Amino acid sequence: MESVLKVENLKMYYFTLKGAVKAIDGLDFSLIPGESLGLVGESGCGKTSLGTSILRMPTPPGRIVSGRILVEGKDIVPMPEKEIRKDIRWGKVAMVFQGAMNCLTPVYTVGKQMQETLHEHKVMGKKETDELIQEYLNHVGLSPEIVTRYPHELSGGMKQRVVIATALFLKPSIIILDEPTTALDVIVQAQIINLLKKLREKFNLSFIFITHDLALEAEVSDRICVMYAGKIVELGTNAQVYCSQGPAHPYTQRLLAATPRLFQKVEKLHFIPGTPLDLIDPPKGCRFNPRCDKVFDRCREEEPPLVEIESGHCVACWLCGKA
Ligand SMILES: Nc1ncnc2c1ncn2[C@@H]1O[C@H](COP(=O)(O)OP(=O)(O)O)[C@@H](O)[C@H]1O
Ligand SMILES: [Mg+2]
Repeated sequence: MESVLKVENLKMYYFTLKGAVKAIDGLDFSLIPGESLGLVGESGCGKTSLGTSILRMPTPPGRIVSGRILVEGKDIVPMPEKEIRKDIRWGKVAMVFQGAMNCLTPVYTVGKQMQETLHEHKVMGKKETDELIQEYLNHVGLSPEIVTRYPHELSGGMKQRVVIATALFLKPSIIILDEPTTALDVIVQAQIINLLKKLREKFNLSFIFITHDLALEAEVSDRICVMYAGKIVELGTNAQVYCSQGPAHPYTQRLLAATPRLFQKVEKLHFIPGTPLDLIDPPKGCRFNPRCDKVFDRCREEEPPLVEIESGHCVACWLCGKA
């Protein structure tokens, strides 16, 4: 099937005074219409950087260094900003930013903030704007009278619904959700997840769902992409990555072992020794090698490529498959 999104050898670095932080360092993956791809990995591995790159809006001093981002077949990396604003950002690719629900302005009503977002991107009359707002509030399960309220009068879940409705306004086909439920309690989290599933079906949306919660990822996503230090280390369907024999990459294995399970007796919860590394000067060979318990000589010298070990299941590790 034709991909809605295809990322090819993407590199995005932050050019800091200390040197270039290689937050995205050669990523390849694609997304088919209606698919949900889960992006997991420890804090600082480059998940948010990937999201903002796909929106063609890396945070300064970040810059896309090389690679292609094909949105519905068209490379958006060399596109002029004017065209991105007109056709791509929010119109084809939207993002619910990490913590966005806490960034609603306290001094304006919800309705006013939604109107302003709409006016910034689309010229339309007041009646049409108000109708569209009502329609989208309805899609996210909020009552129309909410437009007169201020953000402090809403619960966390309601604020997140407002943010989701706003991201959907221009009918994007791809939506990047950056930790959309991290700050919510488990009940509200479940409600938001159910809402997202419903919206995905209704609008045939493709998701890139970012979270550090692997159990949640299994619930929402069709495929899982595990990142470590600006690279993909494992990519596959839920069943392949969470299979009974355990995932293929030692990093994914350790991530899963560090996740508490309710119905399984675990003697002790494991953690991954060491800290996520410095992306200015990453180690030679496999980037995970200083923390890997299965490390051997080759890992310290040569970087393992991401190879397909079974249909649709890719792993970057010298211990796996044909690597
Ligand atoms: N604006 C910035 N300037 C410099 N470095 C940054 C900036 N934003 C993120 N980084 C660095 O880029 C790397 C990836 O960060 P990020 O994409 O936020 O990771 P994640 O979302 O997985 O936690 C980290 O090493 C982080 O310190
Ligand atoms: Mg992040």
